[in-house]
Amino acid sequence: MQFLLITVSILFSAFFGISIQLCSSDSTCASNSQCNVSRGCPDGWQGFQRLYGRWCMKTFSGSGTRSWALGKCRNLNATLSGIQNVNEQNFVGNQFSNVSGIISGGVWVGARRRPQCFNALNVTLCTPQTTYAYYWTDGSTHGIDGFTWHPYQPLYEDCVAMYATNRTQVNYSPDEFYNGQLTDLICNQPLMIDNTFFDVNGYVCGKLPSIY
Ligand SMILES: *[C@@H]1O[C@H](CO)[C@@H](O)[C@H](O)[C@H]1NC(C)=O
Ligand SMILES: *[C@@H]1O[C@H](CO)[C@@H](O)[C@H](O)[C@H]1NC(C)=O
Ligand SMILES: *[C@@H]1O[C@H](CO)[C@@H](O)[C@H](O)[C@H]1NC(C)=O
Ligand SMILES: *[C@@H]1O[C@H](CO)[C@@H](O)[C@H](O)[C@H]1NC(C)=O
Ligand SMILES: *[C@@H]1O[C@H](CO)[C@@H](O)[C@H](O)[C@H]1NC(C)=O
Repeated sequence: MQFLLITVSILFSAFFGISIQLCSSDSTCASNSQCNVSRGCPDGWQGFQRLYGRWCMKTFSGSGTRSWALGKCRNLNATLSGIQNVNEQNFVGNQFSNVSGIISGGVWVGARRRPQCFNALNVTLCTPQTTYAYYWTDGSTHGIDGFTWHPYQPLYEDCVAMYATNRTQVNYSPDEFYNGQLTDLICNQPLMIDNTFFDVNGYVCGKLPSIY
């Protein structure tokens, strides 16, 4: 039994050792299909290496409630994707502008406010700065690197969108935002305010690759 466990753990670490070695650098691996970060992702989806494995993402254009967007992702055997880090923010911003043909907008992402932070707000537990109040829903995004809130957000609404743009910064009177900043929203409200810079005009889906 002990021998079996040791063997299994050696195989296990060898497996992960190899996969980490193969896929540690996208540039050295670009021509090697064995470590193509998008392998097993459907055409047009981009793979990203995350702590617990790879994750495929695609950004879509379209306006609707959060549950409408989630349904669209589910039709693709996917879910609304969280945003792991600045690489993913940049990808979503660029792909959003490409597919929508507009400079900026909001995209629904896979994050929700925790039920513990509904209604009677526990300020200690749920202040935005702790980031406890919101969590990733896709089962893959981890940590808080992707929780880069717009400075005036969140205001404790239940759903979350990312400001997406292929510009570094978008100015609108009297404010500005950067690609990747998050805002909380009422889940059934596809428009943030009546402002084309702000409107939710897309969503980002994510799924596991079919080949690990
Ligand atoms: C990586 O995999 C994706 C998805 O299968 C494919 O579309 C793409 O052409 C591959 N890229 C390379 C460099 O092999
Ligand atoms: C979703 O999964 C089902 C069941 O495996 C499959 O029949 C269907 O083709 C998949 N759809 C897409 C868009 O991948
Ligand atoms: C967006 O379009 C540009 C120009 O065609 C292209 O170079 C870039 O790869 C696209 N980016 C994404 C994420 O689709
Ligand atoms: C940004 O996206 C807009 C809308 O698709 C496009 O017109 C513009 O050329 C893009 N800019 C860059 C630098 O790719
Ligand atoms: C807020 O949450 C903390 C941590 O769970 C708990 O110790 C505290 O009693 C809560 N305060 C209120 C007012 O519910």
